[in-house]
Amino acid sequence: MGGMNGVDSLAVAGRVVLLRADLNVPLDGTTITDDGRIRASLPTIETIRERGGRVLIVAHLGRPKGDTYAERVAGGPSLAPVAARLAELLGVPVPLAADVVGESAWAIAAGLADGGVAMLENIRFDPAETSKDDAVRAELAGRLAALAQVYVGDGFGALHRKHASVYDVPRLLPHAAGELVLAEVAVLEKLTRDPERPYVVVLGGAKPSDKLGVIDNLLGKADRILIGGGMSYTFLAAQGLEVGRSLLEADRIDDVRAIMADARARGVELVLPVDLVGATGFAPDAAHDVYPVERFPADREGMDMGPATRELFAAKLADAATVFWNGPVGVFEFPAFAAGTRAVAEAIGKLPGFTVVGGGDSAAAIRRLGLPEDAFSHISTGGGASLEYLEGATLPGLEALAGGQE
Ligand code: 3PG
Repeated sequence: MGGMNGVDSLAVAGRVVLLRADLNVPLDGTTITDDGRIRASLPTIETIRERGGRVLIVAHLGRPKGDTYAERVAGGPSLAPVAARLAELLGVPVPLAADVVGESAWAIAAGLADGGVAMLENIRFDPAETSKDDAVRAELAGRLAALAQVYVGDGFGALHRKHASVYDVPRLLPHAAGELVLAEVAVLEKLTRDPERPYVVVLGGAKPSDKLGVIDNLLGKADRILIGGGMSYTFLAAQGLEVGRSLLEADRIDDVRAIMADARARGVELVLPVDLVGATGFAPDAAHDVYPVERFPADREGMDMGPATRELFAAKLADAATVFWNGPVGVFEFPAFAAGTRAVAEAIGKLPGFTVVGGGDSAAAIRRLGLPEDAFSHISTGGGASLEYLEGATLPGLEALAGGQE
């Protein structure tokens, strides 16, 4: 999408800059297990600070449950661990408002000095943030906009959400796109426009339903699509194979068959696992064996791809000039079932071409498996956002950043 201005285009000195960031990090209780999204947000924060802006960050964390603000605040999660980590990384205090746009938020905004950084509490505590009712979102957007003089959108991973802080606020304030958003969009544009060939896509993750749209679109662009992980079981079942107790979206089998037929008709190679690691249950220490897909037992659950598939995928990646990978191909969080994801990451990491890892889970997998991040051309912070972009969808957040102020 063209027409987006960078932070350089905004007068930020001495002004409160409402910065929408995607700081939606994985948590174990209140411990951050991967701080990649916080680190990826630092360049824009630093740029605004260096130019004398007062950075007021608005971000979401998780999907708080409850119908009311009070219920959501009580249930959490609070952004407190994120504010603490950000303060550590920046080396300056990052006060966190006790509310989203209440008295505390106003006090925090008023107390910001030039170059200072503060955060609002989890924006999703306010049910209006995600409301489908334009007027409800607009009312929250108005209150958020009143806290600041300018807006910077840098929450790439949330750009596919038509939410108040992503879509509505930029219409009310002079705005610009942050450095992360500009960098991510440049990579996606490169993937979409005339990628060097062969262009190989690896898709994993739990459900085909999340990815059928992108596969459909990629059939017109990629030369080869490798499908692994949880979503591959529905593809195997669509070929009449037993998948035992593996993840299965039975109601998508027809859609999957249609995609497979379309791939054949267009001459795009769809590569599926030929063997699987089947376990007795979903547990890190579950007993497990390798089975060819033609002989997968009815009482086992697929947890990873097997050694023959690891070799097959590596071979299908070996000549790639462009790669996009989204989604782990096994339950990599359990070391016994991480070999497939590691093999895919290593095969891609070796390539000299343009290699993009898209999505929080695959990015976290690379870091948790201890693989060097610089082996890839780009590790995206956005899963859903990059997939929707590659699907050809208009991302509401990008539309708002490229559009004018009302
Ligand atoms: C993500 O984690 O992909 C983004 O932060 C968006 O979160 P959401 O899927 O809860 O909207």
